[in-house]
Amino acid sequence: MTPFSLLILPGDGIGPEVMAEVRKVIGWFEQNRGLSFEVSEDLVGGAAYDKHGKPLADATMQKAQEVDAVLLGAVGGPKYDNLDFSVKPERGLLRLRKEMDLFANLRPAQCFDALADFSSLKRDVVAGLDILIVRELTSGVYFGEPRGISDDNDPENEGGRVGVNTQRYTSGEIRRVARSAFELARKRAGRVCSMEKANVMESGILWREEVQWVHDNEYPDVELSHMYADNGAMQLVRNPRQFDVIVTDNLFGDILSDAAAMLTGSLGMLPSASLGAPMANGRPKALYEPVHGSAPDIAGQGKANPIACILSFAMCLRYSFDLGAEADMLEKAVEKVLADGLRTGDLMGPEGGKPVSTAEMGDHILAALSAQ
Ligand code: IPM
Ligand code: MG
Repeated sequence: MTPFSLLILPGDGIGPEVMAEVRKVIGWFEQNRGLSFEVSEDLVGGAAYDKHGKPLADATMQKAQEVDAVLLGAVGGPKYDNLDFSVKPERGLLRLRKEMDLFANLRPAQCFDALADFSSLKRDVVAGLDILIVRELTSGVYFGEPRGISDDNDPENEGGRVGVNTQRYTSGEIRRVARSAFELARKRAGRVCSMEKANVMESGILWREEVQWVHDNEYPDVELSHMYADNGAMQLVRNPRQFDVIVTDNLFGDILSDAAAMLTGSLGMLPSASLGAPMANGRPKALYEPVHGSAPDIAGQGKANPIACILSFAMCLRYSFDLGAEADMLEKAVEKVLADGLRTGDLMGPEGGKPVSTAEMGDHILAALSAQ
């Protein structure tokens, strides 16, 4: 069997620590499930800036285009806060998303039963929560032109400056991410809620019309509803279980997915997949990363929760390699260690639990895999 090729980009902060646990999981699947991976590793974010003076070297970008899937840890840190915008660590991640054309960002928010009490909402509002946010990732205000900060001679502006960003969406961009959402809904509860601000933005009107068009012409079997994004934010904290799949633009998706993440109790639990069009081998261009950031305050101390990164690898097994059974195994192993009360610091609540380090959490997940 040809090995699956993976490019690992651990990045900054806790990225390298959590990714080390993923490497252990990869090793487990090689030894125990006959899978074979060809793994290479490279730099991204601040780590790449330190070496190359930019947050993603061209050779790394090239490699990312060639592999079956990219696994990314996290980027950024206070050390890089004052860098010029164009070389900030985040630009490395945005370049990967844009150049690989990863237009569909899948952010599941699932509440593990063992963690329902960690949510800032009441257990009976979040228990059993299982929603999927599909965020458009390559367009909208993140990339729209014109953009920039310029001087402005208007005396009423106190001789100051103007900052501009542009929200721009084409029909094609909206339709392709809508199709991803409808496809995913078909494999879930069959419901899509699309969110925009059609009450104030023309791009929102187009968004609504195009999502409706894709529905009517291609996915009439899926239930579609529309919601203004501000109401969507409110509904997410009022009654999140009303949703199955949410599809929304780049900026609203960024914000709504953080809100949804917090419903589940810990940002340290949430994986994501960013998918593009199929490559020649039929697999989608893909990058997998935890939703959490680089957490510089706890970096290098063995305190980080590796679960989001490990669950991102489970998404990789499922979406890049069609290994649904292996992905299920890994997710069950995570559920088991949580049910056993094993807790990294971020999961340590009033009721206590068995404190474990990053590496111990990884070891327990391997043991739970072996026990299946
Ligand atoms: C995310 C992050 C990124 C974003 C940053 C790091 C550029 O917040 O993946 O949600 O805004 O997309
Ligand atoms: Mg974000």
